[in-house]
Amino acid sequence: MAGKVTVVGAGFYGSTTALRLAEYNVFDTVVLTDIVEGKSEGIALDINQSRSIEGFESKVVGATTTPEGAGYEATANSDVVVITAGLPRKPGMSRMDLIGVNAGIVRGVAENIAKHSPNAVIIVVSNPLDEMTALAQLATGFPHHRVMGQAGMLDTARFTNFVAEKLGVAVGSVKTLTLGSHGDTMVPVPSRCTVDGVPLSQKLSAEEIDELVTRTRNGGAEIVALLKTGSAYYAPSAAAARMAKAVIEDAGNVMPVCAWVDGEYGISGVYLGVEAQVGRSGIVKVVETDLSATELAELKVAAEAVRTKQADVQSL
Ligand code: LAC
Repeated sequence: MAGKVTVVGAGFYGSTTALRLAEYNVFDTVVLTDIVEGKSEGIALDINQSRSIEGFESKVVGATTTPEGAGYEATANSDVVVITAGLPRKPGMSRMDLIGVNAGIVRGVAENIAKHSPNAVIIVVSNPLDEMTALAQLATGFPHHRVMGQAGMLDTARFTNFVAEKLGVAVGSVKTLTLGSHGDTMVPVPSRCTVDGVPLSQKLSAEEIDELVTRTRNGGAEIVALLKTGSAYYAPSAAAARMAKAVIEDAGNVMPVCAWVDGEYGISGVYLGVEAQVGRSGIVKVVETDLSATELAELKVAAEAVRTKQADVQSL
């Protein structure tokens, strides 16, 4: 075990992420913070009391923080920071409806984190994801490669689950990929989807694939509508925790993430969902994949949509 990870926000997303990270038994310390007094301390105590049963030694530390920066000493010198702070959607809301309120929260958190952990790799999960990732980079002033967002792992996992269920096969035999934004301009990449190595297009009709793509694009909203309060957190926390693990283990895993794109696919100067190698320095490199002409065109549309909104966050 080595290193320290901080999870900001002890809502369902944050607390589940902290639990997963602790159970990996990879980090020495998992810090969980929240502005609700006592909440993160209580959750930390509870998780620590499960250690002897589940057999992990990572220690969880809870800390109450204020928007002004009190309590952030507990996060000092974190190697990785997962930012889950912000409000989730209510039924009927789009992720973009959260931009105004969450921008203020994410900016404040990012500034406080940068002060106490100047060398951290930041993983943003707050929504709207692509915009909050761009904002966190601006607010921390960190190099782009040390700030990334979690979305592609989740969207890809949802797509994989839907394909496996449709075909009645094991999820382990299905490979899928989504790029683009964590929103309306999500770009599923059917040309990279396979079932036991066989192209998905040989297993399902174009119409059936389209249906699963639409369900994937609306995957978060489907769960919000069912839960009535709050949004998904089991699959999202699995995705965020895996990214944090990839950073500290410096494993060089290639994952779909929201990363700064600088010339890849002919796109520059925007945070966008792409495949990237993740390691100790954050994004080691964006990995370009062969896309069909339609998929590439869709990715460019996504980039421009996200670029416009990311420009907006500068003033929020
Ligand atoms: C979702 C939210 C967390 O997709 O963005 O479920």
